[in-house]
Amino acid sequence: MNTFSHLPAHLWRQGNLHAMRAAALFACGAGVAFAQDKETRNFLFLGDLASRYNREVWEMSIPAIIMSILIAVATSWALFYSVIKFRERKGEVREPAQFHGNNVLEIALIAVPFLIVTVLAILTVRTMVRINNPDIYAKSLRGEPVQVDVLAAQFWWNFTYPQLGNIANGNEMVMPQGRAIRTNITSRDVMHQFWAPNIGGQRAAIPGVQKEYTLDIERPGIYQGNCTQLCGPSHANMRYKVVVLAENDWNAFVTAARAYRAPVPAPGSSEARGQQIFLQGKNGSPSCAGCHRVQGLQGAAGLAGPDLSYFASRNTLGAGMWEGEAARERLKEWILNSPGLKPGSLMPAYRNVQTGKSLLSEQDLDDLEAYLLTLKLPPAAEYWNKVPSR
Ligand code: CUA
Repeated sequence: MNTFSHLPAHLWRQGNLHAMRAAALFACGAGVAFAQDKETRNFLFLGDLASRYNREVWEMSIPAIIMSILIAVATSWALFYSVIKFRERKGEVREPAQFHGNNVLEIALIAVPFLIVTVLAILTVRTMVRINNPDIYAKSLRGEPVQVDVLAAQFWWNFTYPQLGNIANGNEMVMPQGRAIRTNITSRDVMHQFWAPNIGGQRAAIPGVQKEYTLDIERPGIYQGNCTQLCGPSHANMRYKVVVLAENDWNAFVTAARAYRAPVPAPGSSEARGQQIFLQGKNGSPSCAGCHRVQGLQGAAGLAGPDLSYFASRNTLGAGMWEGEAARERLKEWILNSPGLKPGSLMPAYRNVQTGKSLLSEQDLDDLEAYLLTLKLPPAAEYWNKVPSR
């Protein structure tokens, strides 16, 4: 007998509609949960299984999923079995069986859930220890861990390699494949969150606190990272790239980055004029060097903004707001009016506060751009050329 058959027709249709909507929602949810990334062939909800972190989570999930299925099947079976077998038949008047005071049953009903929760707790704690203890994590990976200091700030990232001659890069984290990356994450201002889903879970960046986490990924490529803690107006514009290199490409990068000295432009060239503005500003504008470090350039040791040592080797601008061509096209506009393009950006607009007039002429911007484009690694170390393009 249909439960809705006693209802008026319009309510019956409404009930049907709700059921259809629920089914569609369920199908969408299941679709998203099991959707695969075409390139990595990994389930989106798990991230890339080339990362040990994600593999640990997956391996922990298997027994939990099996247990859940068994429980669902067993309880459904018990339910339907009792409903069908012990339902009241026509003309039947007997009392249902009473179980009150059945000690065996009551102990079983406590012991079984306790056992289930205990097994799940052991699985969870074991996995948490394995992915959060840097030594245990690093043990299964080859080679010495690579130390990377991660600084989060409103609204950009800086990656410094203290054991590799303090080489640094802004908004693009270069790492070798298959090695343990020991990150030391902190924040300069408010709480941020470091998350590149394909190389593991979210990691908090807290001001005044150094948190150590280990990451790894076995496959070279580009992985997207984002800040995942609401941290101000440009929270959504606080992105980064993780560039994972094969071992020999990584070695080439490290060697070149350690030896890197900012190029010296030819006297009188556009680049030389650009360098002058970079170091000293113009028409009362603040200098770039006051806030940005460039390795090997005397006077450019500022730490208030991201490191610009090999700015032209990067593919992104504004902490991942633009990439490739779009990033190059925006460069001059970005220099002139960063807060206009990125809400809350602390890089000052190069405009007179009173008159609104630009402090830099078109020529100055061309010079500055020309200089910035000389800040690049040698071709053998250009890491964007070493990974499969996306
Ligand atoms: Cu930083 Cu959100």
